[in-house]
This record gives sequence, C-alpha cells and structure tokens, in this order.
Amino acid sequence: MAHKAKTTELTEVSEAQIAVHWKEEEYRHPSESFKAQANMRDTHILEKFGLDNFPDCFKEYADMLTWFEPYHTVLDTSDAPFWKWFVGGKLNASYNCVDRHLATYGNKAAFIFVPEPEAEPDVTITYQDLYTRVNEVAALLRGLGLKAGDRITLHMPMVPELPITMLACARLGIIHSQVFGGFSGQACGSRIEDSGSRVLITMDSYWRNGTLGDHKANADIAVRTAKDLGQEVDKVLVWQRYPGTYSAKTPLVPGRDFFVNDLLKNYKGRQVEPVALPSEGPLFLMYSSGTTGKPKGAQHGIAGFLSYVTATSKWILDIHPEDIYWCMADIGWITGHSYIVYGPLAVAATSVLYEGVPTFPDAGRPWRIAERLGVNIFHTAPTAIRMLRKLGPQEPRKYDYHFKSMTTVGEPIEPEAWRWYYDEVGKGEAVVTDTWWMTETGGFLGTTVPGIHPMKPGSCGPAAPGIHPVIYDETGAEVPKGSGKAGNICIRNPWPGIMQTIWGDRDRYIKTYFAKYNRNPRSKDWRDWPFLCGDGAVQAADGYYRILGRIDDVINVAGHRLGTKEIESACLTVPEVAEAAVVPVQDELKGRVPEVYIALKPGVPPSQDVIDRVIRANEEVIGKIARPKHVYLVPDMPKTRSGKIMRRVLAAISNRRDVGDVTTLANPDVVEQIRTMVQGKDAVTTQEGLPEDIAKFGQIE
Ligand code: WTA
Repeated sequence: MAHKAKTTELTEVSEAQIAVHWKEEEYRHPSESFKAQANMRDTHILEKFGLDNFPDCFKEYADMLTWFEPYHTVLDTSDAPFWKWFVGGKLNASYNCVDRHLATYGNKAAFIFVPEPEAEPDVTITYQDLYTRVNEVAALLRGLGLKAGDRITLHMPMVPELPITMLACARLGIIHSQVFGGFSGQACGSRIEDSGSRVLITMDSYWRNGTLGDHKANADIAVRTAKDLGQEVDKVLVWQRYPGTYSAKTPLVPGRDFFVNDLLKNYKGRQVEPVALPSEGPLFLMYSSGTTGKPKGAQHGIAGFLSYVTATSKWILDIHPEDIYWCMADIGWITGHSYIVYGPLAVAATSVLYEGVPTFPDAGRPWRIAERLGVNIFHTAPTAIRMLRKLGPQEPRKYDYHFKSMTTVGEPIEPEAWRWYYDEVGKGEAVVTDTWWMTETGGFLGTTVPGIHPMKPGSCGPAAPGIHPVIYDETGAEVPKGSGKAGNICIRNPWPGIMQTIWGDRDRYIKTYFAKYNRNPRSKDWRDWPFLCGDGAVQAADGYYRILGRIDDVINVAGHRLGTKEIESACLTVPEVAEAAVVPVQDELKGRVPEVYIALKPGVPPSQDVIDRVIRANEEVIGKIARPKHVYLVPDMPKTRSGKIMRRVLAAISNRRDVGDVTTLANPDVVEQIRTMVQGKDAVTTQEGLPEDIAKFGQIE
C-alpha cells in the first residue's frame, strides 16, 4: 500500500505509518549580527560531521575538554550496543567545569542565584567561590568514606548547593542521582532503592510560589520507602536554605541526619585533588519514566556526556564566556544537568539560577530578571512560554532586555506559541533554536545550528552535527523525506552523549532502545543498531524534522515524561480501586495532562472521597506534576475480549473525539455510558484529527 502512494495521493498511508497534514511554515533567518558573532559559522559543518567521517569527527568534541591522560580509541563497539567513547583516556568533570577556568575567569560569576522572594538579594558565585565550595563538599564526602563508583541520591531544589554537590561528587567519581525536587518522598525512595544509594542529600526548605515549604519531610518518607524496598540509607545530609537556621518543622533523626553546614566546619578551605577517572566511568544517573512502573535510570558516562554537552553548549546554545545565560529548566531534569550544570560550566558561562516559579509574583518576573542581570541567552520550555503568554502577552515590551538567542525544549511547540516567543519575547531580534532530545541522549539531537540555518516554527530543524536521524515505519522501511508521512524517528549512529545503559538492567536497555530495528543481535557494527528515540516524527522536503510526540505510553506533562503505569500503580494504592487507566488529554498550557479512569471494587459505592484520595495518591507517590485533571469513576473499563483495557477508546473520549467502531469489544455498552459521563449527553465531538501521540496512545498494548 505504501508504494502506491507515490503515484496517487501523497498522504495515503499503510497501517505501519501515520499521515500528517500540517501546512508548511515559512523560514525566519538569523540576523547578520547574530551570524557574525556565532561560535559556529562553518556552513559545511554538517558535511564535516557526515557519516563518512564517523566516528573521528567527534575528536573535535573531545578536544574541547582537558584530559589528564589522552584516549587511544574514539569509539569502541566491541560490546554493542553499549558504546564506549574516547577509551583509554582519563579526566575529571569537576576539573573541566571549575579548575581549568580559574586562571582566566576566577573572578567571573559562574552562577548568579536569584531567590524567589523578590526582596532577597542575588548571590553571585564566582568560579573561585565555586572551586572553594566544591572542594569543601568533596572533602566532606570523602570524609564520610564515599569513593568512586558509589551512588548517592540528591533530592534538592534550584539552589547553588545543588550544582556544588553534583560537582563535588564528580570530583571523586561518586555517581550522583538527583531526583527532581518536586517529586514526592516516595518517588525519591524508589530511586534510592534502584540506585543502591546509602546517602541522601537534601535541603530543609525552599521557596516555591511564595511558600517556604518543609522539604525535609520528604527525606523521611524517602528513607522509609527505600527501606521497605530493601535499601538502607545510613545518612541524610541536610543543606539549610538559610545557613545556621533550620527552616523545616520535621526534626532531624539523631545519628542519621546531619546539617551539611555543621559538618562543613571541619573542612574549611580543604582541597581535594580531582580524581583521574576513566573516560567511560559513570558520571550520573537520571531517572525517567518508562512504560512499566519501575523507574529507569539512564546512566551517563564522563567523557562522552561531557564532551557532547560542552560542544553543543558552544555551537548550539552559542554560549561565550561574556554572555549571561539563563536556562529556566530545573536541574532535577536532564536539561538542567546538561545545559545548566555541565555544558555551560565547561565553556565558562555565567548562568542565572532561579529558585522559583517563573510567574511569581507576576508574569513580568522573568523579564525583570533578564533586564536587571543583562541576560542575553534564554532557554525555556513551551509550557512556560504558553503560561507567560497567557498571563502577560505584552509584558516583555515593558522591559529593556535584549536576547540574542533563545531555546525551546521539552515538547513540541505550536507555531503560534513559537511566533509569540519570537516576536514578543525575542522582540524579533533573537534566534529561536528548537532543540529536540531526551534524557537518554544526553544532549541535543534535532536542532538548527543557529548561526547557519534558518528557523521554521514548529520544526526542530535538521539535526545537530554528527547526528543522523532516520524515520522508519513499523515494518522497518525508511519513510522518505517530503512524503508527508510520519514514523518512528531513530538515530542511525552512536554519538558521544548517548547514555551508557539503564542502571543495572542491560537487557532492558537493548529491549527499549534497539530491539525494534536491530538487524542482528550479535553484530558489533554500529550500523546494525539504530537507536529508537520513542517519538513519532515527519521530515519535510527541506530535511527539517517535526516531532509529533511520544509513541510509547508515556505522557509528556509540561515537558516532563510520566509513565502511565507509574500513575496507574499510584491509583491502585487506594484500596477501593480495582482497576485504573490513565490517558493523555490535550491541555492549553501544559501540552498534555493525565486523566484517570477508575473502576471500583465490587460493592464499593462511588464517592468524592475516593476521587480525592486517588488525586492525593498521585501527589504522594509521584508528585504534584502527576495530578490528574479529572478522575472518572466508571462502571467498568472498555475491554477487548481477551480482557485488555482499551486505553485508546478512553483517550478518544477524554479528548472529545469519536470513539470509532467498538463493536468488537467485550463490553461495547459501557463505552456509551462512559462517553455520556465525560462528554455529557449531547456532546458534539470534534472531527479534527487527534494529535499523533494521542492517536497512537495505547496501540502497543
Ligand atoms: C519531547 C527532555 C518536540 C519528546 C530534553 C522527547 C520534544 C521527550 C522536544 C524527552 C522538542 C523534547 N520538540 N518534543 N524540542 N524536546 N521533546 O527525557 O517527546 O524529559 O522524547 O528530555 O520530550 O523528554 P525528557
């Protein structure tokens, strides 16, 4: 069927493909002044990083780092698909991010910390200060007996102590696993267990939306959860948001909990030699949601990851040491690890670190910060863009700041939101770089090189240098560019930023990312191992990619991936719940939000109380981010004859679409009952096609 398409209609598709009906957007071009100052101006850069120069082209990335011992092999594929980059070399990430800048940039700010309360002054941390503080914390960790290869879990907010702690770990080769501060204690506990951490580092409190909450309470829950799962935590180290003052109510547990500031008194001015670590030593774990409830720890290695984020911070974010760069992401997610901490510091950036909510106390806050600090590179996500646009569409005009470059990341951006970002936030002067990538990939995959390529609203662009995407349909056939058809986007080749493995689960790594299109499981040739990114995508005739969203059952809420199984298991902790099904729903601000369908155990009457407890369970097990938009108590789930819940049907109902033919279900009548409950009796469904990620949702079941 697919080949017939060539001669007849372009959008005719086979079962294995997805039709796409977007209109082409017009290009915008970077200004001459931007181009003139850009770090990467070589218009042949993509050819230089062509597959015929692979993998040696990436030597240029390794050259951006300072090595203690040189590497001898660029890419070792002997344990395919567990790629090893720059093998034989020794280096240290903390040294590359801090020590090597001291001579030239010692007195320059590495971070400018902006507390959420507007009256509280900024805190400037120079590279020299950073050096002193990282060394002291490293000395403390070493004093506790921690060493290279040990894991520790961090559950910290957006404060300078977070990058300081990460860099202290990196100095010793301790593998850090920072869990997003907004995640619940339970979510943190399950990650402690998976990583096998015996130490948890947290903070007593932090400001969020005008409240100084008790964050230490989460540590107690995390330790208890980990213990129940079989992992003991010996020590909880508690930073104080205001040193010398305890801002939480939850008491310290004697013998287990310690204030970092007290312990640090013994390590004042102490220096710790950065350990010369092997290139492929693990640097950190970053947990993300998979399709099962079990957290999935993406393991990133020192040399590959660091070289990749360094090069892309320079060429794509276009950071120069004299710029003021502000990424509004949270360090608790991969964007913060790659593009607040490691990449920018490696290129000697000055970064703004903002503690709180972008719209606190009003939608002018980011632009006031930008004006006051002279921010000229701005990096955020579509969800923040939509929110700032909704609350203050004309706010940017009131402030005298000038961005040269802006990034969007985390989810597809609608051309409309893109245009507001470009016209209003960027004042028509700044380039917009739409960077598509994921936790597993360490750094950017799909992007423009901003000083070279024109931008196209809604499309991420061609790809970063050395990244060679390919779109396959379900049968493994390549979907050609310009065909108007979408498929599963994969990367043909390895690249330095790719994760090393899933922590402790090699089989799951192969199964999740390679099995689908692998040509020979015994092959040592990288060409046989395309990497499955997990997104649907379409490539226009000009080579630009447009991303359609996740193809697996992962819901991207405000740019954060939540596993549906994780949400469903949270619902099942409410004893009255017999079955739970979660589906993604389109949301004006957050892109997608979860909606929950619940079938109660026999004899349990429906009640608001159960609904409230289901909502609370999600907040407690995962975090507020997982809060469902609606919880529907339904008489039964729509099921196939073999008893599988048809999440696809529920997703259609939640998104006000027609459910299609349900006559083959075991219980077709219940669909109409649920539809009436959710859409109302006479609700008209829209005929508009569902966004591809939702249309495909539930199809792999
Ligand atoms: C989505 C965040 C469209 C995508 C860096 C991916 C995007 C998932 C973009 C990864 C973008 C990220 N355009 N979609 N520019 N950036 N995504 O692991 O679905 O938190 O698979 O990494 O976010 O989310 P993650």
